[in-house]
Parts: sequence; structure tokens; C-alpha cells
Amino acid sequence: MPETVTLKLKEKNFEIPVISGTENEKALDIRKLRQESSYLTYDPGYGNTGACTSAVTYLDGEIGILRHRGIPIEQLAEKSSFLETSYLLIYGDLPTKSQLEKFKKTIAKQADLNKDFKNLFASYPKFASPMAVLVAMVSSLAAYYPDLAKSNPSKEDVDELAIQLLSKMPTICAYIYKTTLKNESFVEPRKDLDYVSNFLHLMFSSKKKEYPLNQEVVEALETLLILHADHEQNCSTSTVRMVGSSWADLFASISGGICALSGPLHGGANQEVMEMLEAIHADGGNIKKYVSKAKDPKSDFRLMGFGHRVYKNYDPRAKIIKRRVDDVLKKLGVQDPLLEIAWALEKVALEDSYFIERKLYPNVDFYSGIIYKAIGIPTNMFPVMFAMGRLPGWIAHWKEMKENPETKIGRPRQIYVGKNQRDYIPLDQRT
Ligand code: ACO
Repeated sequence: MPETVTLKLKEKNFEIPVISGTENEKALDIRKLRQESSYLTYDPGYGNTGACTSAVTYLDGEIGILRHRGIPIEQLAEKSSFLETSYLLIYGDLPTKSQLEKFKKTIAKQADLNKDFKNLFASYPKFASPMAVLVAMVSSLAAYYPDLAKSNPSKEDVDELAIQLLSKMPTICAYIYKTTLKNESFVEPRKDLDYVSNFLHLMFSSKKKEYPLNQEVVEALETLLILHADHEQNCSTSTVRMVGSSWADLFASISGGICALSGPLHGGANQEVMEMLEAIHADGGNIKKYVSKAKDPKSDFRLMGFGHRVYKNYDPRAKIIKRRVDDVLKKLGVQDPLLEIAWALEKVALEDSYFIERKLYPNVDFYSGIIYKAIGIPTNMFPVMFAMGRLPGWIAHWKEMKENPETKIGRPRQIYVGKNQRDYIPLDQRT
């Protein structure tokens, strides 16, 4: 007998079906509620709304669990590579050795950009926001690959799209850095290098000097990309699904996701954390002052890198980065006073009743910037790094959405609170 709950509205009973997930999460299926009762549900910010079923990622924010396709993030961060995790997210299972080799080789082969497409970078001003350029570049891919920019791609088209995006994203990100921050000529992708090493080469090699690859840097970046690879129905992924639900192509959907990611409450937070730590440092390390400001209801200031809609416990990704950051800095021979400030800030916040009562813990963005900085990535490129990491998650969710026969165009309702009907007043009669 399927489980239902009874909802009584205006003396009438409604039987609401209950849906269960594989981890026994329960949801009320209210799809017929408005039609049968004329009531809507009201949930700004969608904190209690399941917009889809998904088999990609499971997270339990009360305990601090994150699993991709069932595999704990801790195991992926320790044992997997970014491309292997991408394959897992997109295709549902870990690849065999030959599948992984083929996946890596195909991605390496497609990393070049079309000559005309490359010319687009020069049209952006120096010091343009890297995220603004990234949005435009990803959306422009539709103009250069019209055969792939389809509203209803075949399974083979989706495979090709995944390859094209994964392979071109590092090149696009590195060229944005070269154009907007370095004013330096591009170097070509190297097909003999692994994904992360090739990205570092594209970023830091010049025509005159090849970037000396360092295994510690490669491994640290690999871990950061894995930790950002997916996070179920977050703001940007929901945006990708929402845009795609109108049958917009994958390039348009992902470029919408990048727009959502750019906000300081989401993927832009890593940049804000770094700027906040720098400000505290410049202010003589006055941590208490910033914690008080974050607690002040009259101030808009928030402790960036703290708090999360879903995690009411330590973000498992932040735990992994925190464990690694000191080691990475030591291995790279980098001494960064901002790390001491971050540790001290976390300690003060975690002992403060304001943060304890609201269950505010460091999130993935709190420590990631310190590693990016040690690698030599400038602060305003941090959100771009996040986008590069999140790409496989966005692709996996878009693919899942397209394959689900229950997908409908995303179209929330509203509770209208504006004026009731009134007459139009001609301009000359208005006061
Ligand atoms: N500093 C100070 N107070 C905070 C913080 C913070 N970082 N985060 C939440 N709060 C407070 C709020 O003021 C609110 O207090 P109140 O109950 O007295 O009004 C309470 O905690 C609940 O906060 P909400 O804004 O309702 O929580 P929500 O789930 O909507 O927001 C968010 C989550 C946006 C992540 C929030 O915690 C935040 O702004 N954090 C800082 C930005 C950040 O680090 N974003 C990255 C998130 S992770 C990611 O996207 C990768």
C-alpha cells in the first residue's frame, strides 16, 4: 500500500502521496494539490522543496555526509582524479581502465579553441571580471558549435557535448586569465599532459618559458577540483536545470549556471573569503572586531566562508581542505599569515554562541582560497576555478534532467501581494 499523509484544508481531507528516496528521505508529492484544493505551497529559497529526483549526489547536512553516485567524497578526494570523478558523475559508475584512458585521451585532443573563437578574448577589456568573461565565452560556444547547440540532443550528442565542454573549459579559463589579468600571449594546450597539469601549463607557461610542473601543486589542485565537482541542487545547478528545462541547449544552461555561481553567497564566496582575511590581516589581525560585525543585526557583513543552507554541521569538503592546507603550504615552501588568521577566526566563531546556535560552520570556500593563492592563482580567478570544478556536476544534472520523462519546464507559482484591479489614469490626469 503506497504511503500517504492526510492533509485537512477547509474541512476537506486530501491524501498526499509520500515519495521515499534510497536513503529513506521522505517527500510529500504535492503535484496535484493546487488543482484539487486551489492551495499553493509557499517556500521562498526552496529550503523545503524537492524540485526533482536525482541519482547523482546524496548529502546529509545534519551529519555532514556527501557522496557522489554512492561513493563518499573522502574516498574520491583521496583516491580519484578529477576526470575519473567527472566520469562517475556524468555516467553513473566508475570507469574501467580502458574507459578512463579513452575519456582522458578524447578530452586532451579537443582542448584547442577555434581560431575565431580565440580572437573573442581580445575584445574584452583588461581587468574585466573573469566570471563575466567566462559566462560570455561558454555561451559563445553555441555560436561556434551550432551542431551541438541542440534543444533535444541525442545520447551521442550529449557525450560529445560533455567532452567538448570538459576539454575546452581549462583552455577558456586560462585564456581569460592571460587576457584580463596578464595581458600575455596564449600558449597552446599540451596533449601529453594530464588535465590539471595542462591547465597549469596554459595558465603559467609563456612563449619564452615553460611552467615547471610541481607534483604537489598538481595534486592539490586535483583535490580542489574533485571537492567542487558536484553538490546536488545548489543555486547554480538548479539554475542549469531551470534553464535547460525550457529545452535551452547545454551551453546556454551552463552559462546560466555560471551567472548564478558568480554571486558572493555562492561561488563568489571564495574570493570574498580571501578579501576578508586580507582585510583582517591589514587591520592588525583584529578577529574579534570582524566576528562582532558578522553578529551585528544592523550590519550587512557576514563571515564569508561560513554557513550553508544544507550543512548544519562541518562541511565535509571544508574538513578535507583544512586537513590538507597546512601540508600543501609546507610542501610548496609558502608561509601565509592568512592561514593563521583563518584558523584563529574559525576557532573564535566556533566557540561563539551566535555561530553555535545557528549551526554555522566553515564551508568549502573557507580554506580553498589559501591553496589557490599558494599555487599563484589571483583572487578574482577563484570563482572561475570553482566553475571549472563544478562543470561535471552541471553536465551530469543536465543530462539526468533530459533523460527523465517526468521533466517539465521549471515554472514556480507565486502569491500575488500587489494592488487589486484599478483603472488606467491618462497621463495628463495623474498627480
Ligand atoms: N555570518 C554571519 N551570520 C550568518 C552567516 C555568516 N556567514 N550565515 C548565516 N548567518 C546568520 C543569518 O544572519 C541568520 O541569522 P538570523 O537567524 O539571526 O537572521 C541565520 O544565520 C540563518 O542564515 P540564512 O541567511 O537564513 O541562511 P541561508 O541558508 O539562507 O544562507 C548562506 C546560507 C547563503 C550560505 C549563508 O550562510 C551565507 O551568506 N554565508 C556566507 C557566504 C558564503 O560563505 N557562501 C558560500 C556558501 S557554500 C557555496 O555556495 C559553495
